[in-house]
Amino acid sequence: MTSERIALVTGANRGIGLAAARALQERGYTVLAGSRDGAAGWNLDVTRPEDIAAAAKRIGSAYGRLDVLINNAGVMVEPGFDRNTTGDVSMEQLRQTMDANFFGAVALTQALLPLLRNAPAARIVNVSSILGSMGLHADPQAPLYALKPFAYDVSKTALNSFTIHLAHLLRETTIKVNSAHPGWVRTAMGGEMAPLTPEEGARTVVWLATLDDDGPTGGFFQSEGREVLPW
Ligand SMILES: NC(=O)c1ccc[n+]([C@@H]2O[C@H](COP(=O)([O-])OP(=O)(O)OC[C@H]3O[C@@H](n4cnc5c(N)ncnc54)[C@H](OP(=O)(O)O)[C@@H]3O)[C@@H](O)[C@H]2O)c1
Repeated sequence: MTSERIALVTGANRGIGLAAARALQERGYTVLAGSRDGAAGWNLDVTRPEDIAAAAKRIGSAYGRLDVLINNAGVMVEPGFDRNTTGDVSMEQLRQTMDANFFGAVALTQALLPLLRNAPAARIVNVSSILGSMGLHADPQAPLYALKPFAYDVSKTALNSFTIHLAHLLRETTIKVNSAHPGWVRTAMGGEMAPLTPEEGARTVVWLATLDDDGPTGGFFQSEGREVLPW
């Protein structure tokens, strides 16, 4: 096995995914940039089982292992963050959001697990959101208390639960699994008012993707680990 480290980032054609892919490339990783638009990287729509199977096959034959998986691809199909949509979000919006943000990440990770197990010390990063925190949503004093786009929030809560369950499954291995909140980031999703650049937003993601052997697993972090978030 060579010392080359292979990283797959989903939704790497723009926003936080693109910034994370570039940062890992700068650190010497061979980055496979997953994109729904095949021209912009590896053709990978995480809601398409055939794309997932093809990616696993291609990575398997080219490298035989995967050192880093960043489940970054995500959608926010509700019109805004500042309203409680629980009473009127459509089942279609709910399913579309869960498909991309939760089922896609689970299906891709399952397909790549044998390759992640083949790496000496793989890292899996689930790009979540503080809006997935049940603890903060239930706290009237929390700054995000008023923000309740239900489909988006529940998709990230489910993703966080995946982090906990997968970290438990892999607890006897060298693989580490964590959730990241990038902060509020100026992307198509975060909007123009957001204070952080995509490069700043990618920092916690990259920190978790490059953790040392004594780093955490099964956690939910922001600010490069200076803050642990409540589930
Ligand atoms: N921005 C923020 O403030 C913020 C805060 C907390 C968490 N996040 C999370 O950070 C992640 C990245 O968001 P962003 O802010 O960078 O948003 P963005 O600029 O809207 O980028 C979203 C990325 O996900 C891709 N994507 C969407 N559905 C996909 C699918 N089915 N298969 C593959 N790729 C898909 C998009 O691809 P296309 O170009 O093909 O649409 C795009 O590359 C998301 O998981 C988001 O929930 C963002």
